[in-house]
Amino acid sequence: MIQILDQPVHGGSAISYAGLIEKIEILRSTLRRTASLERPEIEKLLRQSNGLRDEVLQLSHKERFVTAAAAEPTRVDRSPGHRRQALLARSFVFEGTFGDNPKLLEALEIAEKAAPTDLPVLIDGESGTGKELMAKVIHANGARADKPFISVNCWAIPENLLESELFGHIKGAFTGASSDRKGKFESAHKGTIFLDEIGELPLAGQVKLLRVLESREIQRVGSDQTIAVDARIVAATNKNLRRLSEEGKFREDLFYRLGVIHVTLPSLRERKDEIPLLLEYFGDEAAEALKRRPAILTSRLREFLLSYSYPGNIRELRNVIYRISCLAGDKADLEHLPADIRPASVASTAHHSAVGEDAHGSSPSSLGDAKRAASDEAERAFLERGLHEVGGTVAELARRCDMNRSHLQVLLKKHGIRSKDFRNQTGGSPP
Ligand SMILES: Nc1ncnc2c1ncn2[C@@H]1O[C@H](COP(=O)(O)OP(=O)(O)OP(=O)(O)O)[C@@H](O)[C@H]1O
Ligand SMILES: [Mg+2]
Repeated sequence: MIQILDQPVHGGSAISYAGLIEKIEILRSTLRRTASLERPEIEKLLRQSNGLRDEVLQLSHKERFVTAAAAEPTRVDRSPGHRRQALLARSFVFEGTFGDNPKLLEALEIAEKAAPTDLPVLIDGESGTGKELMAKVIHANGARADKPFISVNCWAIPENLLESELFGHIKGAFTGASSDRKGKFESAHKGTIFLDEIGELPLAGQVKLLRVLESREIQRVGSDQTIAVDARIVAATNKNLRRLSEEGKFREDLFYRLGVIHVTLPSLRERKDEIPLLLEYFGDEAAEALKRRPAILTSRLREFLLSYSYPGNIRELRNVIYRISCLAGDKADLEHLPADIRPASVASTAHHSAVGEDAHGSSPSSLGDAKRAASDEAERAFLERGLHEVGGTVAELARRCDMNRSHLQVLLKKHGIRSKDFRNQTGGSPP
């Protein structure tokens, strides 16, 4: 008969690594001396090893807690630059997410913590705020990064095809099902499934989804066979799901199940201070994509772009910049804006000279205004031509015009002209 530890391994005594190692050693020597084990002995050993495992877990938990507490700096630098830098230092994958807005950084920090877990994440935010991009960020920062990321737009799937789309079907399951087909869940096995516009999922679909989330199994339409799926769920919505669930339009249990971790993305109205940076970022991106120099924005176009409300958020801003970059020559003006957002007076004057219009493209109301507008326009054209000729070197332009350099900088700022836009251009002839 072998000797088995008679002390309960998982007692109320103080836990220490030394005590644990001793217990593990006794277990090991017991096992070494054993030729064969009877069932009750196996079970006893299993209980003991489970107890040991629990103790190790507790210790590691305690240790992590102590380490974290010790590492807690007395004063954490919460400035946006530092927060982004800290994410970078921790090798966070941004997937092209740009911006330092505190609400955006908070969303990224939540994403960072959620990514390595398999917990469901619910992302909400207005249209075009980057929900899909954020889902990709979560995927890219987790252990499933090299596995599939499967995106499903719940709104775009007709109700009668929803089940087959999500869970697949077998041949003959319905008219038109000419062969077996995998659904999105199976395709996302081991990876991430992104359920976009989840608020649009019909109630019947919600019930089926809930069942899959609970059982982690699917059944292809027409089949009795269950298939285990291991897909991490990230859902997104531009609706207020809590309100929808209160109104009975979205299942409350599904809402809670999906929203274990909730990430809210800020609208562009809440990040207005970042619009200049975003204009520059997407301007450069568009220029690269279109293989051309970044277009120079007239001051009135720039003013418009800084004050516009962007109901379509970053997507709209990005699209506008791409459009401008594509349609404009070297210089982009109000007329290059999409017609539905262009200031009304521009449509009729689009092909006329900009001289004589005010900053928003409307006709001046007095002779004084007209003179001022003309003078502003002449000033801007002079500066742009000058910068073009000197390849964007402000000091050189100041020297040539016999102007004070800081005054010149003030004028450039007033017109929203960036000297760097004129670098790498072949000087000599005016734009
Ligand atoms: N912070 C950001 N930095 C850089 N690009 C961004 C950012 N947020 C969004 N974008 C870009 O804006 C566009 C729209 O983003 P995305 O499709 O993720 O938005 P969405 O919230 O899913 O929109 P919708 O609700 O209309 O589906 C994409 O081209 C995306 O790359
Ligand atoms: Mg989307």
